[in-house]
Amino acid sequence: MRALMPTLLLAAMGHAVAAPIAMEDQSQLQVPGAEASAQFAPPAESELPDNAFGKMVREGHALFVDTRRLMPEAVGNGLNCSNCHLDQGRLAHSAPMWGAYPMYPAYRKKNDKVNTYAERIQGCFQFSMNGKPPAADSPQMTALSVYAYWLSTKAPTGVEIAGRGYPDVPQPKGGYDFKRGEAVYQAQCAICHGDNGEGQKVAGDYVMPPLWGKDSYNWGAGMHRINTAASFIKYNMPLGKPGSLSDQQAWDVAAWVNRHERPQDPRLMEGSIEKTRLKFHANDGVNLYGQQVDGVLIGRGSGS
Ligand code: HEC
Ligand code: HEC
Repeated sequence: MRALMPTLLLAAMGHAVAAPIAMEDQSQLQVPGAEASAQFAPPAESELPDNAFGKMVREGHALFVDTRRLMPEAVGNGLNCSNCHLDQGRLAHSAPMWGAYPMYPAYRKKNDKVNTYAERIQGCFQFSMNGKPPAADSPQMTALSVYAYWLSTKAPTGVEIAGRGYPDVPQPKGGYDFKRGEAVYQAQCAICHGDNGEGQKVAGDYVMPPLWGKDSYNWGAGMHRINTAASFIKYNMPLGKPGSLSDQQAWDVAAWVNRHERPQDPRLMEGSIEKTRLKFHANDGVNLYGQQVDGVLIGRGSGS
């Protein structure tokens, strides 16, 4: 963990292009059992060939960690890919690119078709980055794919590798509670993400990403599901202390984060939240879109 912190903070501060791509220590997680299961190690930066391929890998890496600044036309919020795929897409249990790349093409219920890897990334552009996905054959998409391909060097294809995705954290028997979630948030998250989930900026650039509001992921993003956010949070947050929250705390704080407004689901149907809820949210894990919480309709969208 000690080795990881500076890299993450550098990445968060926008110096990521200069930060080392390689992480020698793959055993940062303190989540019980997680160290034992993650065995795949992506190649080190020093193994990158000094040729056209190596150059493209570096370009993809830069786009991955500095997405918002390098691709303003494609990103509609304040986030970079590496904000949710930690350690530059290398970290096990943080949906690492080496766990993803070898699993595509694959069928996705979300858009009801077989998705290529490029199409999968386009999904994260549209929802997680609240933006306009670049064309599948654009130079940036190629660079992002080449970066993921390189991280997957020597991984088997079509076989789920340990460490892929964000491991499920089952919903606690008693459900979740917003008040407890708010308390966890104020005690353990606000110091970095701000009292109102707004993140922190230095010289106009986010150094801590926002969790809700106009610069956050939108209502169509995977992270808007409380179950998905709880999994991400349990295994990755608070930054530097993964695995320190109980399952209950992870669910409570995920529910608190995801009861706040964020950009509208771009699939909004005929301006109707209710139609959109029925079509896209009724069977999408545990989420609050289109529901009343304390008499307030959730999912109105926070402008942009
Ligand atoms: C707000 C958080 C967030 C951001 C920002 C984000 N993603 Fe994701 N990404 C997710 C979530 C959540 C999933 C679903 C993971 C799962 O199903 O376990 C995901 C899934 C993926 C997957 C598929 C993973 C797999 O194992 O199949 C890829 C590839 C991916 N993202 C790439 C990107 C790229 C490239 C960017 C930047 C353009 C990006 N993501 C930005 C949250 C994010
Ligand atoms: C020490 C500072 C710090 C603390 C404390 C912290 N985070 Fe984070 N968090 C970050 C940083 C930095 C990132 C982006 C990681 C990166 O870019 O490498 C992040 C990313 C995230 C993301 C995904 C990106 C986004 O903006 O949606 C979520 C969700 C999140 N944190 C939730 C939480 C929650 C919930 C807590 C409290 C339990 C918490 N964090 C505590 C610094 C922190």
